[in-house]
Amino acid sequence: MVEKGVDIAPANGKLGILLVGLGAVSTTFVAGVEAIRKGAAQPIGSLTQMGTIRLGKRTDNNCPKIKDFVPLADLDDIVFGAWDIFSDSAYEAARNAGVLEKSQVEDLREQLESLRPMAAVFEQNYVKRITGENVKTGKNKMELAEQLIADIARFKEEKGCDRLVMVWAASTEIFIEPSDIHNDLEAFEKALYDDDARIAPSMIYAYAALKSKVPFANGAPNLSCDIPALTKLAEDNNVPICGKDFKTGQTLMKTILAPGLKSRMLGLEGWYSTNILGNRDGEVLDDPENFKTKEESKLSVLEHILQPDVYPDLYKDFAHVVRINYYPPRGDNKEGWDAIDIFGWLGYKMQIKIDFMCRDSILAAPLCLDLALFMDLAQRAKMKGIQEWLSFYFKAPQTAPGLYPEHDIFIQLMKLKNTLRHLKGEDLITHLGLEYYD
Ligand SMILES: NC(=O)c1ccc[n+]([C@@H]2O[C@H](COP(=O)([O-])OP(=O)(O)OC[C@H]3O[C@@H](n4cnc5c(N)ncnc54)[C@H](O)[C@@H]3O)[C@@H](O)[C@H]2O)c1
Repeated sequence: MVEKGVDIAPANGKLGILLVGLGAVSTTFVAGVEAIRKGAAQPIGSLTQMGTIRLGKRTDNNCPKIKDFVPLADLDDIVFGAWDIFSDSAYEAARNAGVLEKSQVEDLREQLESLRPMAAVFEQNYVKRITGENVKTGKNKMELAEQLIADIARFKEEKGCDRLVMVWAASTEIFIEPSDIHNDLEAFEKALYDDDARIAPSMIYAYAALKSKVPFANGAPNLSCDIPALTKLAEDNNVPICGKDFKTGQTLMKTILAPGLKSRMLGLEGWYSTNILGNRDGEVLDDPENFKTKEESKLSVLEHILQPDVYPDLYKDFAHVVRINYYPPRGDNKEGWDAIDIFGWLGYKMQIKIDFMCRDSILAAPLCLDLALFMDLAQRAKMKGIQEWLSFYFKAPQTAPGLYPEHDIFIQLMKLKNTLRHLKGEDLITHLGLEYYD
């Protein structure tokens, strides 16, 4: 046991969760929390609510629930706020998203109708396929950021929140490379005043959150807070940040399976992944510039897990292709196929096929909950900057400069749980069997 854990402020009072984007993921998340609070559903898929953590030796038989081990906000203390370019309430948005059954949405109508989105910061160039009317105007991007900062303060005051977190669950923006204006805060703020086209709306939200000392989690692959100017602002303002891109569906499967193949030293010739998806996310990603952002996020995973440089005989030059096809009949019920060509002893070839008929937002909603609760915990534990221990939740984990992201879901989980043990002053678990030694 280490001397003592970290001083964590208690989770007293209300936690406001501010959602950027009130679409399929956000409404499924909000409706789910409301249903769970009513006792009508279980928080399946949520590590914070259902997960346990072993403490001490196996023989100690001490395995509390995570939510009983670290002080997390209670679901009854959560209040929701949102921004969207459409003015539909969460009730109408949930009906449009078509993820949850109509009867379930009706049962939650009152709670969902009370969540109405604030006007969004939006730029058509970043998401070409959708146009909404609930959008802020201002003389430059700094003024838009100030409007968001005012929204945040007003929401906190009106709802009587003690603490806030912000989660980006809005559409994926077009692919952009970081450039000089993203490198330091001075250049970034000047670019806000100059209305520079290289400042994406997601960066303006992140900036507003960090200026308001609100933790920011990025559920989409766009850069947002993953630029030096904003990671520095997060450090300077003592605010935790994390991203990018919720790890659900096909990438979740990839990061479960690939570490297993590698652990047995099985080789990979190629991995072909294709999806059909018919929701609004699928429609936005049908635009090549938006898909490029997603593709970058999805492609990096295997490279990092399999380490072709370390294992050239097994993984050098494997082919990796990822496709998303917009196909409206399926709505949110994505179907993802993987054709995996592997080889074993003496180079003999084998094939694995996966057909994952998943529900995208059903997989993403519990991640929103966990991230909101863990980011709030991180802030109360005075953790700041990039929260790599939350890589578990992301396809393209944000890391400090010079570090490669950890994609192996089992290492990610161990890192997450060991971080919680560390916070509470418990021994880290290494799985080393000391009984073999004298
Ligand atoms: N569902 C998943 O499994 C999953 C996994 C990883 C990442 N994501 C990402 O999460 C995001 C949300 O997914 P979804 O299925 O809910 O999409 P969605 O299209 O149903 O919802 C996105 C919402 O964001 C709104 N929006 C767009 N730009 C905005 C802005 N600048 N400000 C405020 N609102 C804005 C849209 O109007 C829409 O209502 C997408 O970027 C998606 O790529 C989803």
